[in-house]
Amino acid sequence: MTLLVTGGAGFIGSNFVLNWLAQNDERLVNLDALTYAGNLQNLASLQGDARHVFVHGDITDRALVDRLLAEHRPRALVHFAAESHVDRSIHGPGAFMKTNVDGTFTLLEAARAHWNTLQGDEKASFRFHHVSTDEVYGSLAPGAPAFTETHPYEPNSPYSASKAASDHLVRAWHHTYGLPVLTTNCSNNYGPYHFPEKLIPLMIVNALAGKPLPVYGDGRQIRDWLYVGDHCSAIRAVLAGGRVGEVYNIGGWNEQANIDIVNIVCGLLDELRPDPAGPYARLITYVKDRPGHDRRYAIDARKIERELGWRPAETFTTGIRKTVRWYLENADWVANVQSGGYRDWLSQNYSAR
Ligand code: NAD
Ligand code: DAU
Repeated sequence: MTLLVTGGAGFIGSNFVLNWLAQNDERLVNLDALTYAGNLQNLASLQGDARHVFVHGDITDRALVDRLLAEHRPRALVHFAAESHVDRSIHGPGAFMKTNVDGTFTLLEAARAHWNTLQGDEKASFRFHHVSTDEVYGSLAPGAPAFTETHPYEPNSPYSASKAASDHLVRAWHHTYGLPVLTTNCSNNYGPYHFPEKLIPLMIVNALAGKPLPVYGDGRQIRDWLYVGDHCSAIRAVLAGGRVGEVYNIGGWNEQANIDIVNIVCGLLDELRPDPAGPYARLITYVKDRPGHDRRYAIDARKIERELGWRPAETFTTGIRKTVRWYLENADWVANVQSGGYRDWLSQNYSAR
């Protein structure tokens, strides 16, 4: 048995691949274009492991996807590959349309053609699992109920609009063609291998370098944080038992304002790697807000709990401590991802704020 995973060299994808192979021997074929966000160093521990087949390629390459499906006959395709950073989507939305919309379309068409050739059990058990985000639902007012699976789609950024488009394609390929799809919409993840353009890893690496900690606007925007290992276990649960054509929301029951997150990270660093110059919170700097910034996300994760018995294993207290420790213990990984391209991004996004 084999799974075809896309984007398995990125943050969540590489955690999924590592956790999967730590738990069972089912082979994974990992298709990843190795954009700035993809990093084979995340998968270094799998070198020489025949259960992991890495393929360097693009999900918009139909011939390649056709070949992988025909050659490996996966029982499921788990689709992580995406352009994932909201700020980058504001500076340059084109790549988001290409990968998130065109790429998902290409995978759906290839999967549909492949699925149509299958028969019997192989056809009945095939799944296309689309990994998506809570951002497709837009922004919640203070006190409004958390997003359920039937919340209207109101994407506000080029990133969330491209993910919403991909969710709609997945839904339509099921409704029209019968392709056996599963969609999961997850809240903000954090944990090991998180690229330091996103809030939590950026704050850790900037603090350790004595650089400003840029908090957008008033810092009171709320996100629902989930440890990445819990997102991976939720995907495994949905893949194993989710009902075909259904959507499952995944979240951490953990709403927190950005400024509180930054203060928690600073407090952990004060404890684990004290700075003789003073508490890390002295570096907090309020900067110009993100255009169109969503104020609040919160996930109602009762459906996945009710149907599949999934709940997060980590609390934020345990997960964020593990995460800060991981960054302290993996300074080489951090140094390697802070290449010239990373420095160009910091200057593009932060110099004019
Ligand atoms: P990431 O940016 O860290 O990784 C994306 C991966 O996809 C990289 O390895 C990259 O090389 C690869 N990729 C990009 N374009 C590609 C293409 N055209 N062909 C093949 N590979 C390509 O992203 P992430 O944070 O790991 O997110 C993974 C998925 O989960 C995305 O679909 C994202 O929308 C979704 N998601 C993320 C979060 C989060 O908090 N990070 C939360 C909910 C959902
Ligand atoms: O909700 C799920 C989404 O979470 C995923 O779909 C996205 O792929 C993922 O990137 C994430 O999106 P966010 O925009 O919420 O994550 P980010 O880490 O970029 O920002 C988190 C919050 O912190 C957000 O309110 C913006 C704020 N922020 C971010 C950065 C990078 C700052 O205040 N300063 C910063 O420098």
